[in-house]
Amino acid sequence: MKKDLLKLLDLTREDITKILNVADQMKYNQKHGLTHNYLQGKTLAMIFEKNSTRTRVSFEVGMYQLGGHALFLSGKESQIGRGEPIEDTARVLSRYCDGIMIRTYGQDEVEELAKYASIPVINGLTDFAHPCQVLADLMTIREKMTRLEGLKLCFIGDGNNMANSLIVGGLKCGMDVSVACPAGYDPDPRVLDFAKTVTGAGFALCRDPKQAAKDADVIITDVWASMGQEGEKAKREAAFGGVYQVNEALMAVAHPGAMVQHCLPAHRGEEITAEVFEAHAGEIFDEAENRLHAQKAVMFLLMGEKN
Ligand code: CP
Ligand code: NVA
Repeated sequence: MKKDLLKLLDLTREDITKILNVADQMKYNQKHGLTHNYLQGKTLAMIFEKNSTRTRVSFEVGMYQLGGHALFLSGKESQIGRGEPIEDTARVLSRYCDGIMIRTYGQDEVEELAKYASIPVINGLTDFAHPCQVLADLMTIREKMTRLEGLKLCFIGDGNNMANSLIVGGLKCGMDVSVACPAGYDPDPRVLDFAKTVTGAGFALCRDPKQAAKDADVIITDVWASMGQEGEKAKREAAFGGVYQVNEALMAVAHPGAMVQHCLPAHRGEEITAEVFEAHAGEIFDEAENRLHAQKAVMFLLMGEKN
């Protein structure tokens, strides 16, 4: 494993499998009351430049369960919001803490932070990637379907941070990946370039959601307008509305028994209907829970003594 978790493009398939295996063990330990205070005395700094419920709570609770401590730094209230350079923040936090989790806009900010920090940096979401979420998604899919290799993962909606990370994570794990998005909302070119290099798993970029969803084992969607894109809401509703939605008609073309995943928060009636959401709520909230276990695995592997 590298020092940091910045994007799934940086991980090997073996790295991902290792994280998922440790995550399963973390979940087992937590459920069975087994002590796993591997990060006793360690501190994680959490920088948030965007809103969060799951990421903040799961990292903070995860550090506590590992015997450590997490501290919340709001971009606005810290000196970061007043323009202190990232490289100085990185060097200061490296003197106090044992790891940094950051949620921000540009992937370049996270890469810069990692470059100057002597401690591990974990990407808690950028406009480009959401690696922690996709590790939790892969964990949930493997838990329900017992494997990843050979399954078909389909993403419907915006070619955003989730789409980017799902394409990379799914393909690296040997899944066939299909994406349906409107023209002008494709995944990042770096991700499409990566997909071209993959052998042994198929990738398809479609405009027709039903074509993408055909025989899929897992259907995944996300909001049409991500954080920071609030000003494009109306334009995006026009581009996605009525077509790029996970509904019963779309589920009918997927493989019988197909799972549904959504990173949340969900906008019922937009990217997913209330009926499909509620029919798959068990899987979706397992996915949310698995953020905790997957991130505990990441923190243990990056911040633990013996790794
Ligand atoms: N899925 C996810 O990252 O949720 P939050 O925005 O609540 O952290
Ligand atoms: N694509 C969404 C994910 C939220 C967890 C966003 O970036 O806002």
